[in-house]
Amino acid sequence: MQTVHTIAELRAFVKMHRMKGQTIGFVPTMGNLHDGHLSLITEAKCRSDIVICSIFINPMQFGPNEDLDAYPRTLDADTMALEPKGCDLLFAPNANEVYPNGLEAQTRVDVPQLGDYHCGASRPGHFVGVATVVAKLFNMVQADMAIFGEKDFQQLAIIRKMASDLCFPVDIIGIPTSREASGLARSSRNGFLSKTEKKTAALIYKTLLVTRDALAHGERNFSKLCDTAKQQLEKAGFTPDYFNIANPDTLAPSNSQDKHFVILVAAYLGKTRLIDNITLSI
Ligand code: PAJ
Repeated sequence: MQTVHTIAELRAFVKMHRMKGQTIGFVPTMGNLHDGHLSLITEAKCRSDIVICSIFINPMQFGPNEDLDAYPRTLDADTMALEPKGCDLLFAPNANEVYPNGLEAQTRVDVPQLGDYHCGASRPGHFVGVATVVAKLFNMVQADMAIFGEKDFQQLAIIRKMASDLCFPVDIIGIPTSREASGLARSSRNGFLSKTEKKTAALIYKTLLVTRDALAHGERNFSKLCDTAKQQLEKAGFTPDYFNIANPDTLAPSNSQDKHFVILVAAYLGKTRLIDNITLSI
């Protein structure tokens, strides 16, 4: 596996493989790779001739009081994890390469409506930062397909909409959430949790399962379901940010006629913000 840090080197690599008629799969990440990220690489490898992974901790998607500085930077370990998965190129630019004129001067991509709820409501500007960097990365890499995790359900919906609205010639592929044996969704932020907190964190998935069961059995008092789940999380020591039941296409709050649901949760355990979701179709 080759590692490059500049757009020029990336483009030269892509051009060479395009001339051979090879297809390119792209997996954008912020690094500190775990088995969830690596499952996206495996999927990309199955679907395309050449796999490119990017590692870029995107400052534009972090709010002023968020964990940009603390976000784990583990490039050597990430390189070692990517190699055996058959990744062909690691693109690891620095902030100057991606934002040569600084963040303020950067043209932005704003996907309306889908960002109004859930993480978009709690993290103003977050999805503009995500959509902007992903649009830039798409134009840098020019892949045939890009692979994203369903763990970030709202992010995936926003990227699908952006790619469709802006006519990016790239297929967006979603991959199911990779979980620990306890049910806890794998996340780079799990490394911030103490051993005890990690055990407690598994309750997030359990509350999702309990809520999904209740929905499957016909309960349609959405606010009661969400309040009960939040109370359970609070009792275990979480500070819930949101626990919502939504329409998986619009991400707007569900109504009782809906047949498809996504249950989304974000909760703090100590200073660590964890998110998860689960879907149900009736
Ligand atoms: P990051 O959090 O590093 O995640 C990179 C990709 O891995 C995303 O598509 C995310 O949904 C996926 N992923 C994370 N945990 C997963 C899990 N447990 N199972 C399956 N997939 C998982 O998401 C970002 O980075 C950034 O916002 C990015 C899209 C790179 C833009 O900066």
